[in-house]
Amino acid sequence: MLILGIESSCDETAASVIEDCRTIRSSVISTQIEEHKKYGGVVPEIASRRHCENILGVTRRALADAGTELADLDGIAVTYAPGLIGALLVGVNFAKGLALASGKPLIPVHHIAGHIATNYLSHPDLEPPYLCLVASGGHSHIIEVLSYTKFRVVGRTRDDAAGECFDKCARAMGFPYPGGVHVDNAAQSGDPKAFRLPHPAVAGNEFDLSFSGLKTAVINLLHHAEQKGEDIDRNDLSASLQATIAEILTDKTMLAAEALGYKRIALAGGVSANSGVRAALSKACERRGCSFYMPEKSLCGDNGAMIGCQGSYNLLAGITADESLNAVATLSMDEI
Ligand code: KG4
Ligand code: ZN
Repeated sequence: MLILGIESSCDETAASVIEDCRTIRSSVISTQIEEHKKYGGVVPEIASRRHCENILGVTRRALADAGTELADLDGIAVTYAPGLIGALLVGVNFAKGLALASGKPLIPVHHIAGHIATNYLSHPDLEPPYLCLVASGGHSHIIEVLSYTKFRVVGRTRDDAAGECFDKCARAMGFPYPGGVHVDNAAQSGDPKAFRLPHPAVAGNEFDLSFSGLKTAVINLLHHAEQKGEDIDRNDLSASLQATIAEILTDKTMLAAEALGYKRIALAGGVSANSGVRAALSKACERRGCSFYMPEKSLCGDNGAMIGCQGSYNLLAGITADESLNAVATLSMDEI
């Protein structure tokens, strides 16, 4: 089975051909980061325009790299939610056109389900059910993966996503957008105990997360130091921030795993590239005798392979769309 996966929900235009659910035949990613960097974040209209310009070329290259043509495919999978609406619309409409021209099934894929699927590409032995922490620039969820296509969100952030917290604190420290990876690099030579940063107290659902208090604490710390003319060691602050985010994510995930009886735990989303988060969750799993799965670093950020992989499982489960498929900016995993 050959599935073309198309992703355009944010600032990466990506396409990939996936064979038999888990083998990457090709994966092409065109990133717009350099352009958005000038503005300190993604500018939605620019993102849509770049997707519009690049999507055909990226898809052509993905098909060519895989040695395939449209006629060889068994389906065309596309991210339809959630994300920037204008960006999503480019991918959805393009995929519809391809499906119409080729007569192949159109397969809608939820972006977070795509991130979760990166672990199938990295770990041939992983099968549902398991518990997955998905942390990215726009989302922080603890999710029960009940089957390849059935999910239950057990915890979510009440405010900022983990990646957003990394990026906003990084910006306040003077790092370029997107700052998560710069914090990660700086943290390598910093002291994680140099600053005591707050852990959130979340009332209600004990598996919910919160990062806005931590973000505000870091920004205030930097402002106060600036007012007093003091220098803050960016490596130490990065290391302390990373250790705190890793601890919050790990503690909540392990709490949910224990309460719900999961012994298999996965990590996914852009923040899964973070060395501190990878190490903390991996160590906690080892301590509690749980198996731990994380995607290889090249699959952590947005890509077409994750959409092709999840699209393959959606097709096997009979999840396809007709020509009325629309893009949706906000759509909970519980609603798919
Ligand atoms: O999944 P993703 O590519 O896009 C969304 O779906 O949001 O995630 C992007 C997020 C950004 O916030 C970025 O700073 C963060 O993932 N990120 C990292 C690292 N690499 C990417 N955060 C911390 N450490 C990293 N190494
Ligand atoms: Zn993403």
